[in-house]
Amino acid sequence: MTIIAVDGPAASGKGTIARALACHYGLPCLDTGMLYRAVGLSVLKAGGDPDQEADALGACDFDESMLDDPALRSEAVGSLASRVSVHQSVRQSLIKRQRDFATQPGGAILDGRDIGTVIAPDADAKIFVTASVHIRAQRRYSDALAHGGHPDMDSLIADIQARDTRDMSRDHAPLRTADGADLLDTSDLSIEAAIQRAIALVDAQLEGRRKV
Ligand code: DC
Repeated sequence: MTIIAVDGPAASGKGTIARALACHYGLPCLDTGMLYRAVGLSVLKAGGDPDQEADALGACDFDESMLDDPALRSEAVGSLASRVSVHQSVRQSLIKRQRDFATQPGGAILDGRDIGTVIAPDADAKIFVTASVHIRAQRRYSDALAHGGHPDMDSLIADIQARDTRDMSRDHAPLRTADGADLLDTSDLSIEAAIQRAIALVDAQLEGRRKV
């Protein structure tokens, strides 16, 4: 069984890298941010307050079909997800699902904020993907333009900074580089170069474990 943990801040490229690794190693992949996004969107739909733990916890038994809702991908829902994710009971209620996915026969790749630290601390390989705030905002900007949006660079930068601050300073499972994780800064890398680098790092970690 091979478990690969990919963590990192918003818009770092971790999702793209996790999916490419999944393809390369033939493993299933779970974007754990989607679970928090589903909770965030459910709270909104129920008219609840994402900052109230009871409201957020009540939204954790969201309908499975919600995971296919394209609205989950919006920046607004990302911010709601970040707000509900500070509550310990919310995190707790999503742990089993993530661990079951990680430990399925053959293993899996998961990407998120706390995969290498909390969900799968014994993962066979761990990568922490990052990029400068400016580059991450630039990627969001190009993405929004490509989808016909009218993005504002300053508000994108402010949103990313706010999300980083909340995700890194929360009391429970804050975003940080896990013990044993390799850092992958994608600021100056093309998507293809970042993927090749990620594969090289994972190969080296898997090889290292085989020798121990
Ligand atoms: O990866 P993402 O942008 O889709 O995540 C949305 C939010 O969900 C993120 O800002 C914090 C939260 N999250 C988390 O706390 N732990 C995870 N493993 C994944 C996401």
